[in-house]
Amino acid sequence: MNELIKKLAGAFGPAGSEEGIRSLIREEVEKVCDEVFVDDLGSLVAVKWGNAKKNILVAAHMDEIGFMVTFIDKNGFLRFTNIGGVLKNTLVGSRVVFSNGVTGVIGREKIEDGKEPGLNRLYIDIGARSREEASARVKIGDSSAFLAPVSLEGHRVISKALDDRIGCYVLIETLKSLPASLPCTLHFVFTVQEELGLRGARPVAYRLQPHFGLAVDVTRTGDTPEPDYKMNVSLGKGPAVKIKDSSIICHPQVVEMLVRTAEKEGIPYQMEVLERGGTDAGAIHLSREGVPTGGLSIPCRYIHTAGEMVDLDDVQNSIRLLAALFAENW
Ligand code: CO
Ligand code: ZN
Repeated sequence: MNELIKKLAGAFGPAGSEEGIRSLIREEVEKVCDEVFVDDLGSLVAVKWGNAKKNILVAAHMDEIGFMVTFIDKNGFLRFTNIGGVLKNTLVGSRVVFSNGVTGVIGREKIEDGKEPGLNRLYIDIGARSREEASARVKIGDSSAFLAPVSLEGHRVISKALDDRIGCYVLIETLKSLPASLPCTLHFVFTVQEELGLRGARPVAYRLQPHFGLAVDVTRTGDTPEPDYKMNVSLGKGPAVKIKDSSIICHPQVVEMLVRTAEKEGIPYQMEVLERGGTDAGAIHLSREGVPTGGLSIPCRYIHTAGEMVDLDDVQNSIRLLAALFAENW
């Protein structure tokens, strides 16, 4: 098992509570870049200075989806609201953990009418016997995230938060593999609060004024049993070059550079049109007067569940592709 993937995916960091995951990433990138800083909303920026004036922003978000406590009832059960796009049908029985280490399991009210319950019918059970006991361990406004092991099955990793810690891993490993002298200056940005609507990427893109932008995130696949929904991305067939998602139509120049680099290096790749979901690319390309921006996506099954799955070949090929891409003169 890759220890760094395990550490990154296992770390706690729901949107708005990225302190822990940020210091972990900081430790990794500090050794291999020229400058590191944190912006006012908490995004971490690792800089590699290049020879030309061109400046490229590469983003991966370090936050994950989660659950925030809204109310503690007299029996010690916690009501919660979503932090980002949690899928209510997949939650019951999932374990969660708070930043102080308190754990719980998600339960659901008994539903008589057979209708799909909303999040307001779910609760977190931390094993407390009363409101007092629960309140001593968890407060209103505390955030939790999935608690799930990181496991390796053959070539594939299963874990919570591979969205987008696997993107963070790809950025870190790309940084490590870059040559000392680069044509363009690179800003590797580990953003906050992507899961709440690309919030961290916006101000950091404004500040850095990049000439080009690229978001590295996971994307859905169409290779699991699904009778109606077809998507042209499979696990293990290479990183996906994004053409469109709900937040962006990628700039043709960036799409073309990704494709050309993959072809030149003989790296397998796929073309991605994601019908639902956005990425930091959406926020970056609308910064200032507009920034030509694209996306490189790691195919991932079961996104936004406690058991997301990626293929390690896709991960390695993403790193190879990015390293080759940043050796180019943009
Ligand atoms: Co996500
Ligand atoms: Zn994501």
